[in-house]
Amino acid sequence: MGFPTQRLRRLRQNEAIRGLVRENKLSASSFILPLFVVPGSAVKEEIAALPGNYHLSIDCLIEEAVAVRDLGIPAVLLFGVPETKDEQASGSYSPNGIVQEAVRALKSKVPGMLVVTDVCPCEYTTSGHCGLMRNGYLDNDSSLELIAKITLSHAEAGSDIVAPAAMLDGQIHTMRQALDSRGFHNLPIMAYAAKFASKLYDPFFKEGTHSTLKFGNKQTHQMDFSNSNEAMREIALDIEEGADIVMVKPALFYLDIVYRAKQEFQMPLAVYDVSGEYAMIDAAARLGRLDRDAIMLEALTCMKRAGADIIITYFAKRAAELLRGK
Ligand code: PBG
Ligand code: ZN
Repeated sequence: MGFPTQRLRRLRQNEAIRGLVRENKLSASSFILPLFVVPGSAVKEEIAALPGNYHLSIDCLIEEAVAVRDLGIPAVLLFGVPETKDEQASGSYSPNGIVQEAVRALKSKVPGMLVVTDVCPCEYTTSGHCGLMRNGYLDNDSSLELIAKITLSHAEAGSDIVAPAAMLDGQIHTMRQALDSRGFHNLPIMAYAAKFASKLYDPFFKEGTHSTLKFGNKQTHQMDFSNSNEAMREIALDIEEGADIVMVKPALFYLDIVYRAKQEFQMPLAVYDVSGEYAMIDAAARLGRLDRDAIMLEALTCMKRAGADIIITYFAKRAAELLRGK
C-alpha cells in the first residue's frame, strides 16, 4: 500500500503539523556552556577563535553565569587558565586554585546553577600534557594520584559534577574511590569516556586555555579517530568503574559513535561540541557561506537525534535565545 495512499508530505504541509510529529526537540535544559576563568578582576576578553566566549575573571564569571541561568541553561563547565604552571600541575589541586575559587564563588552567588568541573592536569602542566611525564611518556598510574587530588579539591570547593577528561586507564575507578572515601558518595562523575585525539581541539588550547603541547602528542591516551569498537570498550569500562554519565567527544564528526553508544548502553549520554566545530561554523558564517543561526540549530538538533541527552556547546547562549523565541 504505497503511493497514492501513502503521502508523507501530508504531515509536512505547515509548521504546526510538523511540530506535532517532530521526533527530537532541542531544549536549553540539555545545554552545558563551557566557561574560561582567569585571574584578576574586571577581565572580560573575547576569545578570538570562539567569538561570543570570553576569558572571565571571577567577578565577570558571576555576571555571565547569571545571564546563562536567566536563559534557562542549567549548567556551566569550568576551565581554569592559571597564572603559572609547573611540571607537577600543582595549581590543579590547590584549594585556592583558580577553578576552586571560581566554584566557591559560583555556588554562593549563583544558586541553582550547576557547576561542572573539568578534571585534567593539562591546563596546569608546563608541558601541556594530561598528567606526569616519564621519559617522554605519559605515566598512567602516578597521574592517577594527581587526578584523585584534583577531584577531591573540586569536590571540597563544591563542584556539582566532576568530569574527568584525561583518558587515563582506571581514572573513573580512582575518582569514585577517592570521592567515596571522603564522603562524597552523591557527587556524580561525567566521564569523557570516548575522547578522540582530534585536531578539532586546537582553538581550545591555543586560545582558550593556553595549553598547547610543548612536545609530543596526545595519541597515547586519547583515542585513534579510526576506531569505533574501541570507543565502545572505553565506554563499557567507564560504566563498570562507576561513571554516571558518559561522553563522546568531539560531536559532529563522531555522531556514529554517539548513536552506537546510546543504542548499546542506554546510559545518560553527553556530547562535547568542541571548539573546532564552533570555529568552523563561525568562519563559514563570517564568509557569508552559511547561515549561522540556522546551521547552529541544525547541528545541535542532529546531536540530539543521534542520541545525546546533554550537549556541551559554546553555542549554548545563542541557541537558548533562539529557542526562547520559538
Ligand atoms: C582537557 C580538555 C580539552 C578540551 C576539553 N577538555 C583539550 C584536550 O584534551 O586536548 C577540548 C575542548 C574543545 O576543543 O572545545 N582539559
Ligand atoms: Zn588534558
